[in-house]
Amino acid sequence: MSSSVKPTHKFIIANWKANPASLKDLEKIQKGYFTLQAAKHVSVIACPSPIHQILEFSKGVYVGAQDVSISGNATGSWSAAMLVAAGASHCIIGHSERRLLGETDIDVRNKMYSLLETGVVPIVCIGESLRDDSGKYATVIRHQLRLLFNGLTVAQMGRIIIAYEPVWAIGAKAARPCSAVECAEMVLIIREELIRIVPGLLSQHITIVYGGSVDSDNAGSYLLEGGVQGLLIGRASLDVYQMRSIIRTVESLP
Ligand code: PGA
Repeated sequence: MSSSVKPTHKFIIANWKANPASLKDLEKIQKGYFTLQAAKHVSVIACPSPIHQILEFSKGVYVGAQDVSISGNATGSWSAAMLVAAGASHCIIGHSERRLLGETDIDVRNKMYSLLETGVVPIVCIGESLRDDSGKYATVIRHQLRLLFNGLTVAQMGRIIIAYEPVWAIGAKAARPCSAVECAEMVLIIREELIRIVPGLLSQHITIVYGGSVDSDNAGSYLLEGGVQGLLIGRASLDVYQMRSIIRTVESLP
C-alpha cells in the first residue's frame, strides 16, 4: 500500500501502546473496533501491542504494529517478516517512547529499510522535545528528515507515512497541547525540507499525520487548520466512542 495517496485520503492510526491491561478490557475494545467502519477515503489502522497483535478487526480496519526489530537475534521483539505473517500492513517506528529507551535516528532508519523490504508501510515518528524560542526545533526536524530519506529510492519514499509528534505534547503528562497553528507551521517546515530531498511533486504528496493528545474534540482542527492528512492517536484510541466520533469527524471533512 502506498502512503502517497490522493491528498483527500485520510489516515487514523490508533496507538494502543502497552494497553489494555486486562483481558476483559481487551475484549471490550476489540468488540468496539469490530464495529468501526470508515468511508473509502479514510484508512483506520489499529496498532495493538504485540501480544494482542493476532486480533480480529472489521474489514474496514488495517492492523499495524508499534515497533519492529531489524535482527533475528532480538529477544522480546519481532521482525518485519513476522509482522507480515501476522497480517500487519503498517508499523510505527521511532516513537519518542522508544527513543527514550535509547533508539537513535540510525536505528529508526534501519527499521524503516527493513519494513520497506517486506512491504509493510513505515509510520515514521519525528518530533522535537522542546518548542524553544530560538527556533532550534525546526533544525531538529530537518535533520531527522534528511537522515531518514537519504539514499531511498523515489518508490520507497512514496511508501512512507511521516508522523509529526512533538514530544512535549504527547501523553497525560504533556506540557500543553500543540495547537493546530503550531502543527501547520511544522507541516510547512516538513514540506519545505521534503522539497529539497524528494524529487518532483512527490514532496507534496507524502502523507503527514499529527500525533500528541488528539481526541474527539480537537481531531478536526488538526486536519482542517493543521495541514495534516491524518492523526496518530494514543490514549483516546482506547475509547471506542471517541474513535467512532473521530472517524465521523474525519469523514465529514472536505
Ligand atoms: P497521546 O499519545 O494521544 O496519548 O498523547 C500519542 C502518541 O504517543 O502517539
